[in-house]
Amino acid sequence: MTVLDPGTVAVVTGAAGGIGAAVVAAIAAEGVSVACLDRDGADFARVLGTCADAGVRAVGIGVDVRDRDAVRAAVARAGGLGRVRYGVNCAGIDHLQPSGRTSPEDWDRVVDVNLGGVLNSCLAEHEAMREGGSIVNVASVSASVFNRGAEPHAAYSASKAGVVSLSRVLAVEWVGDGVRVNSISPGYTRTEMTDRNPPERNAVLADQVPMGRMATVQEIAAPVVFLLGEGAAYVTGHDLRVDGGLTAW
Ligand SMILES: NC(=O)c1ccc[n+]([C@@H]2O[C@H](COP(=O)([O-])OP(=O)(O)OC[C@H]3O[C@@H](n4cnc5c(N)ncnc54)[C@H](O)[C@@H]3O)[C@@H](O)[C@H]2O)c1
Repeated sequence: MTVLDPGTVAVVTGAAGGIGAAVVAAIAAEGVSVACLDRDGADFARVLGTCADAGVRAVGIGVDVRDRDAVRAAVARAGGLGRVRYGVNCAGIDHLQPSGRTSPEDWDRVVDVNLGGVLNSCLAEHEAMREGGSIVNVASVSASVFNRGAEPHAAYSASKAGVVSLSRVLAVEWVGDGVRVNSISPGYTRTEMTDRNPPERNAVLADQVPMGRMATVQEIAAPVVFLLGEGAAYVTGHDLRVDGGLTAW
């Protein structure tokens, strides 16, 4: 059973990354075409191949989410695939430093990508969703708790708290336009990046989680699709923590 509207279009930022690629695969499996946005030089081959296998149209567009005009032009290009109905904003960067070791330049870069990039993407997607739609912004459990067992990451955590707050504000601003906006807060999730960590570091992180393990990217993508779809028709302004219980204790 599909939960998304087949034949419509989704915009996914950070589409070439670990969680982004899983989101693209889950959306394409629903028969929805996908505009895959990621920074210049990103390798789109994997996600475009996934979309081709699922029989949906797709395009890969190199864009820096910090550039509002460029994001707007990219989302307008997505409209060439059909009606833009869904947006998932995954593009983000990490910065594993405490506040005292975060330079003004690092602070600006992290906040510009993680928070400014989400705003730019939401604005462009909202503009394209003339007949309504649904947006999910990817935040993090770091928005809500200190990452016990991991390095403090001041700018990252603050930027993700901003994503949760911004999503709530946009949800209310755009409720009359039929556009729902929610965020999702993944806990520790296995990607190619975390697989490169020393095993003992991943073991320490997994130990913080009541379920005793990290998430798979598919376990993040599935609730994203739920929030996008009609099963969540009465859900807006919500942050869904998908964290194996990390924030429960
Ligand atoms: N992996 C985790 O444990 C975890 C946990 C919580 C939240 N998250 C969040 O999930 C999202 C995806 O993370 P991931 O683990 O898949 O990481 P990832 O590094 O694999 O993916 C991030 C993607 O964003 C793209 N990107 C970065 N800066 C960009 C920019 N300026 N413009 C356009 N694209 C840009 C990268 O090229 C990359 O493809 C991020 O927002 C991250 O903060 C990840």
